[in-house]
Amino acid sequence: MGPLAFWKHLKEIALTRPQAPASVAGSPLLRTILNRRSIRRFESREVPEETLQVILEAGRVAPSSVNLQPWSFFPFSAAQWKQHFGEAVPFAAPHAVIVCGDTHRLKSTLKEFPDSPLFEYTLAVMNASLAAMNMNVAAEALGVSSLMLSETGKSGIFHADYLKEKLALPDGVFPLMTIVFGYAKGGYPAMPPKLPASCLIFRDRYRETQPELLEDWYAKMTVGYKAAFPLKTFKGQLKFYRDHIQKAEQVLRKMVFHYPEE
Ligand SMILES: Cc1cc2nc3c(=O)[nH]c(=O)nc-3n(C[C@H](O)[C@H](O)[C@H](O)COP(=O)(O)O)c2cc1C
Repeated sequence: MGPLAFWKHLKEIALTRPQAPASVAGSPLLRTILNRRSIRRFESREVPEETLQVILEAGRVAPSSVNLQPWSFFPFSAAQWKQHFGEAVPFAAPHAVIVCGDTHRLKSTLKEFPDSPLFEYTLAVMNASLAAMNMNVAAEALGVSSLMLSETGKSGIFHADYLKEKLALPDGVFPLMTIVFGYAKGGYPAMPPKLPASCLIFRDRYRETQPELLEDWYAKMTVGYKAAFPLKTFKGQLKFYRDHIQKAEQVLRKMVFHYPEE
């Protein structure tokens, strides 16, 4: 990509804002949701305990299928994380919560679950992710920034076997992600390129996305990535994903379906 195209994409990224009609733009909750960003630079200042408790409470009261609440949370301070895992919280955040899907607790009481590992895993992932998002939005509403992690550091689904061992997780408890929390250092970054509504929202039937829209998104991701992480590339990140997915797949097959390791 030439320098002209690079700067054009970068300018578009910098100027693009979430869309909301003026009639609702004043809603504080809407502003919180639309302006949320994944933050990767934190002050060392700690978040007050009371605020952390409210964030966890937002996770606890999240909606769930049949109110089954198939999740477990493991909160850590930076010092506790260091002591437990022998390394710093990713991105030097002062707080972290590991979010797990959890059908173990339910199954020990309810006998209604037939042998259904794929369904149980899906149920746990679907619901625990909603609880994670509730915590993320609650934090943002209280001026606390966050970042969900599944691959950076040994923090999520890519290291499910490591976390299972370190946290003594029984079968049916699946580590999904770590959310790191803290006060953002510097301002919020620009919104990374989101796909246009026309690719995602359908009226009557599914429609294939025009290739130009995906190409435009890919080009913007390439530019945005370079601007945010000068030493990395989006292509390199995708390759990292491809290389790690295969191992994660093996681990999850064993963890979820009890397949023997290949
Ligand atoms: C489940 C999940 C896992 C993620 N894992 C990582 C991660 O391991 N490392 C990272 O830097 N960002 C991670 N992210 C953050 C995404 O890169 C980020 O959400 C995306 O680029 C969109 O940016 P935004 O959150 O500011 O809209 C993750 C986000 C989600 C929802």
